[in-house]
This record gives sequence, C-alpha cells and structure tokens, in this order.
Amino acid sequence: MKDFKADFPLLNERDIAYLDNAATAQRPVPVLEAERKFYERFNANPLRGLYALGVEATEEYEKARERVRQFLHAGSTQEIIFTRNTTESINLVAYSYGLERLKPGDEILVSIAEHHSDLLPWQMVARRTGATLRFLECDPDGTFPLERIQAMVGPNTKLAAMGQVSNVLGRTAPVEELIRLVHQNGGVVLVDAAQSAPHMPVDVAALDVDFLAFSGHKLMAPMGIGVLYGKKALLDAMPPFLTGGEMIESVTREGAVYAELPHKFEAGTVNGGGAVALAAAIDYLEQVGWQEVMGREEALTKLAFDGLSQILGVHILGSQDPAEHCGILSFTVDGVHPHDIAAILDDAHVAIRAGHHCAQPLLAHLGVRSSARASIAFYNTEEDVARLVDTMKTVRRRMGLGL
Ligand SMILES: Cc1ncc(COP(=O)(O)O)c(C=O)c1O
Repeated sequence: MKDFKADFPLLNERDIAYLDNAATAQRPVPVLEAERKFYERFNANPLRGLYALGVEATEEYEKARERVRQFLHAGSTQEIIFTRNTTESINLVAYSYGLERLKPGDEILVSIAEHHSDLLPWQMVARRTGATLRFLECDPDGTFPLERIQAMVGPNTKLAAMGQVSNVLGRTAPVEELIRLVHQNGGVVLVDAAQSAPHMPVDVAALDVDFLAFSGHKLMAPMGIGVLYGKKALLDAMPPFLTGGEMIESVTREGAVYAELPHKFEAGTVNGGGAVALAAAIDYLEQVGWQEVMGREEALTKLAFDGLSQILGVHILGSQDPAEHCGILSFTVDGVHPHDIAAILDDAHVAIRAGHHCAQPLLAHLGVRSSARASIAFYNTEEDVARLVDTMKTVRRRMGLGL
C-alpha cells in the first residue's frame, strides 16, 4: 500500500494511530500550504476591496466556490453557499426554509440515525411551526427497507432530512429512493453528506437532491468552512438566514435589498483561507482518486472488522458485512465502558471516539447507551489497524475480566 501518511505532518510528527476520522480528518501539506498562501499572497477582505489585492482575494474565494461546484456536480456556483460547517448549513435551511414554509399538519421526516445536527434544527422547526416530526426507523443492521420509506412518505411530507452515511453505523442510506418518493409527493429533501462527501463521489444533479450539506474539516480542509448546496429556485425564494454586511445590494434607514445568490446567504466577512484550502483538499482527494480512496478504506475496514470481531466480548454495531461500514466501526465490549476502551487505546496511542456520537436516538433505538468508534481514512495503514486490534485484545484482561 502506498504511504499517504507522508503527506500529513501531524501523522509524521506524532506516534499515533489516528482512527477518529469521522470526527475530523487530518490535513495534508497541500491544504496547509493553500491556506498559508491565501494569507501570505492574497489577504484582503474578499467581496469588499476594490483595489487589486481585494479583487484577487475575491477571485481566489470564487475559484474555490467553482471547485466545490465541480466536486458536487452542481449546475451553478449560485447554488454553493459557504458556511461554517454541516450544522450551520442545516440550520440555514431550517430557519430560512423550514420556519418560512411549514405549518400545522405538515410533516418533517427524519431518520432515527440522524446526527443531532440533523435532528435538533428540525425539532425546532416542528416546535415553532406546529409541523409534526416523524421518524423513519432502521433495522438493527442499519438498513431502511424501501417499504418502510414508502409507508412513511405521503402528501404531508413537506420536508425530509437524512444522512447519506451514518456516523455511528457507517451504513449508506437509500437517499435516492427517499428523494424520489418525497418529490412524487411535492416535498423537498435535505441530505446530510458530512460522512459521505469525504468517502464517496456525491453528485447532487444525479441525486436530484434539494439541499445537501457537508463540512470541510471532515474532508481534510480547515475547521470553520462548510458547504450548503441548494437548488437555485429554492434558495432564490428563501429569505437570508443571517443579515449584516456583504449580503446586501443597498441599505436604507428602513430596510435593505439583499444581494443575489450565493452572497445573500454569506453575511459578514467570509472564511477566504478556509474556502481556498477546501478547494485544495478537493484537489488532493481527487488526485489520490476515488478508486484508491474507497479501495483502501474498504480493505482497512475489513481488516479491522475481522480483527475486532474475533475478540471475545467485542460486538460490532450494525451490519456484519464490513463492506457496509464506509470506514466506521462502532463497537462495545462486554463489561467494559467505552470510555475505558478509549483510555486503554489511548495508552497505546490509538485515537478513537467513545460516547453517544451525537446520535442518542439511534443508540436508544439500538438498545445501547454508548459505544467505542474507530473510523478509518485512506491515509491510515495496516499498522494502525494492527495496533487497534492488538490493543483491543488486552482490554478485557486489563479491566480484570479475564480474556
Ligand atoms: C452525519 C453528521 N452530520 C453532521 C455532523 C456535524 O458536523 P459539524 O460538527 O462539522 O457541523 C457530523 C459530525 O460529526 C456528522 O457525522
């Protein structure tokens, strides 16, 4: 296997098997350099300065938007809104679409597997509009049978929100079917692509999705830059989420004329360095190539799955087919709290996540309070996985539970 770790300074400088990629990825040199270059060579307030440097800063920022448009296969850069992260992207839709359009009797459909970031905004919309929040439940292995989706979607389904890949089970959701059914009933769909965009090609045109959100930091870009894709016709009809500088054409004492898309939704000074570094992260990812990324992640996931599932007392949540985990393995160990698992792994310099993974309704549905979660990226190695598995073999003994 090619050693991509060499591209990631942190992974070279520290002795660590970093297996918390679902929380945030590491950054390769080209991304760090792109952000640095923006501040060294182009720093001025994008979209404001009329002098040459200001214009160049704007151009760099808008080039980054075009790169994201290509990445998502969107029709227009007007459909690409830069936000801080997935959470902010979803809140934008909740406030500017949900609160404006929904009313009592309408239904919002979410899956039980949603990250809290794709649940709490809809709870808020339901509370404030009188719409009803309904849950699409999954089987214990994380699947959503088509008949269940068909049964839940109807003429009252005005909005549905679903993660494309679960951050707990790694399972890919049938968002294509959901979108088709909701559209047949006249509703719109938001896809949370936080865990899919870094690991598989996402094509908003092929999906025909109405809104799609992802975070730069899970895709090797800096923290604080995220994306909302929205269909132009929908975004055009929506009021701004935040108001203030940058997002106006003109302002009087009484009111304002808002700017055209996408700037209408980008109030205040934008994250220019973050946007250009996100474009660099996309370049880097596509240079590595999806085949390589997906092939390595699948191979490493299988290695980890096979190793972990052979250890006495270890239970992997969700599908028992490693190919259906998209790099994410959540597991429990009989008699051992996930925080203890994480602490023992940390002793061996293996970084994983332990807790409820911001998906408490899913864990309750699965009948577990918390779990340990290892999440893999293409730049991980077989040694990282071996260190995870070898240390996991010692967990029960170290907790005084025998082998
Ligand atoms: C599926 C999913 N949705 C949303 C989020 C929220 O992302 P952010 O914290 O970057 O807004 C996460 C982050 O873990 C996630 O895994």
